[in-house]
Amino acid sequence: MKKLLIANWKMNLGSEQGAKLALKFSKLLVKNKNKDYVILPSLQSILFIKQKINDSAINFGAQDCSQFPVGAYTGDVSAAMIKEIGCKYVLLGHSERRLIHSENKKILKEKIANALFNKLKIIYCVGEKLIDYKKSNTKKVIKSQISNLFSEKINFNNIIIAYEPVWAIGTKKTPSVTEINNIHEYIKSLFLKIYKIKNICVLYGGSVNLNNSKEIFSARYVDGGLIGGASLKAGEFKKIYDNLN
Ligand code: PGA
Repeated sequence: MKKLLIANWKMNLGSEQGAKLALKFSKLLVKNKNKDYVILPSLQSILFIKQKINDSAINFGAQDCSQFPVGAYTGDVSAAMIKEIGCKYVLLGHSERRLIHSENKKILKEKIANALFNKLKIIYCVGEKLIDYKKSNTKKVIKSQISNLFSEKINFNNIIIAYEPVWAIGTKKTPSVTEINNIHEYIKSLFLKIYKIKNICVLYGGSVNLNNSKEIFSARYVDGGLIGGASLKAGEFKKIYDNLN
């Protein structure tokens, strides 16, 4: 399976800043047959960035999409519109959306259906809150986030799972590499059991940086990373990408 690194820029960069950073990525990061990367800029900047960098090899994705296909939904952007501006991917179920925007499983199922209908690849985030981690409820939480979510008829090559413990996002804290590896193995086993899918792609996210990335990526069941803060600096993101083997 190809290893994957996702740069989640969140709501940090506008068009000019985003184009500058994307240009650095395109110069510094070397793709090969074993690994690739995806940039998730703010949505309004994507067309501008694409024009500026003029590098069709770079993959773009959106950080979210509407649960609705079309219509009177002020402020929403549909999966079709995201596809139209040249995105290949969409991130769904990030904990910031689940917590701040109250996205529940019903909403996420609708987003998944719209994204797949529009031939977008989905990066679907799962992960436990600190209270669940402390009570050793991580597997239980993840099982509930994954079960009864996808139709068995879909093409699971278009699904990527990102394991992001909520308490590890932007906090400089991470689970141990053994814990990360165990949860990744568990997620793969869940997909086999529930959806009969072997070896689903599972990325780790939450405070990945230059110092911990090599060890995290060396874990057997880790297929790449979802990087927030450390993806805002080209030099650091390049080195994290170089650690992905
Ligand atoms: P972080 O964010 O790398 O800044 O912890 C990861 C994410 O939220 O995707």
